[in-house]
Amino acid sequence: MKLEAIPGAPQDGDLEFVLATEKEFEEIVSMSHGIYGGLDYLPSRYHSWVNEKDRMVVLAKKKGDVIGLISMFVVDGGETALLEGLRVAPWERGRGIAGVLQRFGCQLVKHRYPSVKVMRLTRDDKLTPKELNKYKVISKQGILLVHFNAPELSSRLSSIPLPPGPSRPSPPILLSPEEVQGVFLERGGLLKDLLPNQTLIQDWQPFQASPGNHDLLRRKSIRWMADDSIRPRVASLCTAPFPVPAGPLCFYLNIDVFGSGLRGAQEQLLSHLAAHVPLLPADVKCQLFLPPSMWRPMADFCTNVLGLKLDKGYTEQYLLEADI
Ligand SMILES: CC(C)(COP(=O)(O)OP(=O)(O)OC[C@H]1O[C@@H](n2cnc3c(N)ncnc32)[C@H](O)[C@@H]1OP(=O)(O)O)[C@@H](O)C(=O)NCCC(=O)NCCS
Repeated sequence: MKLEAIPGAPQDGDLEFVLATEKEFEEIVSMSHGIYGGLDYLPSRYHSWVNEKDRMVVLAKKKGDVIGLISMFVVDGGETALLEGLRVAPWERGRGIAGVLQRFGCQLVKHRYPSVKVMRLTRDDKLTPKELNKYKVISKQGILLVHFNAPELSSRLSSIPLPPGPSRPSPPILLSPEEVQGVFLERGGLLKDLLPNQTLIQDWQPFQASPGNHDLLRRKSIRWMADDSIRPRVASLCTAPFPVPAGPLCFYLNIDVFGSGLRGAQEQLLSHLAAHVPLLPADVKCQLFLPPSMWRPMADFCTNVLGLKLDKGYTEQYLLEADI
């Protein structure tokens, strides 16, 4: 569907901006070859994205062919637009098209959702000085990427002991949706204090810990854990595993950790693995997003105690914000 004329939107003689539909799926798949080492998440999200409420997936087309994509998702009760999935076809890169797409996406959001005040995005690549001027860095998490074979890990998971450590107040608890919302995320909620800038990031998507996001988070089948329900020091969110469409069968298992307390985080990791790994039939890439100081000891735990393979060294996930 061709998009309406938007006052002030950037013009580019060669480019046409349209809303994405199911029809363009194959073109999106071919554009995603080579992205994230061939493990691009976008094809697995595309179908739900094009139908999701409050989300606009915009394609840039040149002579009828898709050469770029941007998604803008309105969250935080209408205050924030999340920029996701930005990509430009390899043969069109380096000419500023990503910038044109972003400006168009922001204008479209402002036009359709005048309540939106800021745009947010998460990235794991180094920011240029110009970009550091453009965005405010809201928070930073370390990224620990490990892989394993699920049936192999499953066969020995129950016999893996936790290393000795300081005693903890109680075993890790699995939070019910009511606990997550009522006790942990409401104004003055306990979990809020653990979150940098009162923002949780779930699998690359940042959400303010506010009632405006409750329904959305509830629909996501997230496994929420904390070390304690009275005074939590560390909490984690495990996203339901999803297959990576490209290449041999492989799943992503993504876990976001907030707060401090290594032992609590290790216990929660073991619990998330025990819940999901026995149901997975193939290799798994597990991304742990955690406070930077927890990266090294958690990497040692994953490799030395759990026997997982480290995919790469320390990298960072940045949450960025700009006014729009
Ligand atoms: C990253 C990518 C979209 C850049 O596209 P491009 O058209 O070659 O980028 P250009 O260097 O010509 O455009 C520069 C503009 O894009 C912005 N940009 C570049 N990389 C970006 C990124 N990862 N996230 C957000 N904006 C980015 C720059 O800030 C700049 O904006 P400006 O015009 O306002 O200054 C492209 O290389 C790509 O598709 N890579 C693979 C997928 C990917 O890594 N996507 C990013 C995260 S989802």
